[in-house]
Amino acid sequence: MAGSPIRHSLSPRLHNAAFASWGLDWASVAFEVPAGQGRALVEAVATLGLPGLSVTMPLKEEVAHACDRLSPVAERLQAVNCLVHRDGQVVGENTDGDGLLRALAAEHGFHPRGRRCLVLGAGGAARAVIEALGRAGAEEVLVVARRPDAAARAASLAGPAGRPGRAEEAAGADLVVQATPLGMAGGGQERAFPLDPELLGPGHLAVDLVYHPLRTPWLAAVAARGAATANGLGMLVHQAALALEHWTGRPAPLDALWAGLRRPGSDDRGTPSASSPGTGEPVA
Ligand SMILES: NC(=O)c1ccc[n+]([C@@H]2O[C@H](COP(=O)([O-])OP(=O)(O)OC[C@H]3O[C@@H](n4cnc5c(N)ncnc54)[C@H](OP(=O)(O)O)[C@@H]3O)[C@@H](O)[C@H]2O)c1
Repeated sequence: MAGSPIRHSLSPRLHNAAFASWGLDWASVAFEVPAGQGRALVEAVATLGLPGLSVTMPLKEEVAHACDRLSPVAERLQAVNCLVHRDGQVVGENTDGDGLLRALAAEHGFHPRGRRCLVLGAGGAARAVIEALGRAGAEEVLVVARRPDAAARAASLAGPAGRPGRAEEAAGADLVVQATPLGMAGGGQERAFPLDPELLGPGHLAVDLVYHPLRTPWLAAVAARGAATANGLGMLVHQAALALEHWTGRPAPLDALWAGLRRPGSDDRGTPSASSPGTGEPVA
């Protein structure tokens, strides 16, 4: 795992839980690697002969420019969250969007094909989700972001289904994905709502990619109105599962990953207790 700040990353915990469950003598550790070192990082994977590495902010974009090859998804996003060392090449993958779709399928039986989706935000996480929703056959992928140019660029990742939208259009969506940092503990906007909860209710599935806290005030307000809800832990677990599958070729032991997140005193879905004292936000 590499990125900055990285000390409170939950990913090594997930990876190591899988390795232990498989009886595999591998270890995942967090490396503090600052912006500007993406190329050196890719070269280090090749030099050290590592099977793979997870990559997080602020390196996802610069690493994409340094890989020997990109998967089609990473190519479209120009962002990499997983390096795979295969046949002498370092290949860049991006498992974030498919991680969320797998989580929604597993936890809510939700499949995007033919469904109307709305994404709040146009940053890295939003873009990965928008691309995955478009590829999975969503009928419509609306992008609501404070910068219209960013919304339009992000929406184009969904192909013909994608277009910039207005917040009020959430009422007609099946799925709403909140992909801004609003609500994140320690971010200074803990109580800010990214969307009026009154627009949602029974029949909506609302997902907040934030997982610290596990239930943001916005997610709580939306749940109180009768919408089905999910936090960001499912995406975190399933993007790690996909990375593990790329590295080993084995189906990931999901129960072990969920158990790996749990700490004494946590709730039954696992509280990410490795929160950063600086930002309060654990990072993938
Ligand atoms: N569950 C997971 O596995 C997972 C994975 C990745 C990220 N996340 C979470 O998803 C969130 C976004 O991460 P990211 O990597 O996509 O960040 P990012 O690249 O910095 O993008 C953040 C997006 O939110 C927008 N935004 C920020 N503050 C806002 C505000 N006050 N009002 C309206 N929009 C605002 C930004 O708009 P501008 O571009 O105009 O600033 C941008 O579109 C974070 O909370 C992160 O922890 C979760």
